[in-house]
Amino acid sequence: MRLFQLMYRVFILIIVLASCKQATQEVNVYSGRHYRSDELLFQKFTEQTGIRVNLIKADSDQLINRILLEGENTRADLYITADVGRLARAVSQGILQTIPDPSMLSLVPENLREPKGRWIGLTKRARVIAYHLDRVQPNELSTYEALADDKWRGRILVRSSQSHYNQTLMASILAANGTEEATAWSEAVVNNMAQPPRGNDRDQVKAMAAGVGDLALINTYYLGLLLRSSNSEERQVAAELGLFFPNQQGRGAHVNLSGMGITRYAKNKENALELIRFLLSNESQTFLANENFEYPVLAEADWPDLLQQWGEFKSDTVNVARLGELIPEAMLVFNKTGWQ
Ligand code: FE2
Repeated sequence: MRLFQLMYRVFILIIVLASCKQATQEVNVYSGRHYRSDELLFQKFTEQTGIRVNLIKADSDQLINRILLEGENTRADLYITADVGRLARAVSQGILQTIPDPSMLSLVPENLREPKGRWIGLTKRARVIAYHLDRVQPNELSTYEALADDKWRGRILVRSSQSHYNQTLMASILAANGTEEATAWSEAVVNNMAQPPRGNDRDQVKAMAAGVGDLALINTYYLGLLLRSSNSEERQVAAELGLFFPNQQGRGAHVNLSGMGITRYAKNKENALELIRFLLSNESQTFLANENFEYPVLAEADWPDLLQQWGEFKSDTVNVARLGELIPEAMLVFNKTGWQ
């Protein structure tokens, strides 16, 4: 009889423990984005839904490797990265599954999601030409292709080919113009560089303010971050620059994407879906634009004043998934033309 009572108590304890475990709703996010804006949004999500977000931040490629290594036992439910090349790699490595909600997928324009729904855009990021207001007139600028012109000899600042942003830009040049023209373009841009590539996008505009060059290829949000910087020198640098959105008469300015996908072995799939839904709300999209100066992927989301001031622009509508596929060829072009 005593043994029976003991077994009964153990049985009850197991039931209680099991239900406790179920009561803790959570979602595990592996993210290559390192922005305070994202963490604030995750906090809001938890407040609204009671679902805890466990965030692991690391380099986007390292996170893919980690998910591969963890295999079926991975804790990752949602993978987030700031570059479409990494999204393409996540797909080719088989770590993502189709987002099982067609109505959610269709919230985002077709060119900003993977054709089979294995990832979806989070924010857009335009890579454009920044120019020094005293040394360049905007009417001297037109296209990315025109940066090959001799008149820019020794005047272009741009970071290295290790930058995902440059790799994806080169993929867009390849998609538009083919290998031969892209190679000739790369060679000419290397010839026109003000200095060998070094530093990040912010360093390019700082070098421009210091007189090293007159044009820089940068993502627009860096100008927003400099304008809002607590450092007065950074604000001064930003005040000397203009932004030019290239290729407005043609295919439009190059746009990269931050995106997200549910991992193949996600244990908290419903919660991951709920989080995607939350991040794609008008409110979250506007929040990211306000905090980070990235462009919303939803047409209806409001833009902050600064983005409105920079103005509407035509963006290249090539499917960004295609750009991801062209990254290996982009690397070959960089190597062949000596773009460090
Ligand atoms: Fe960035």
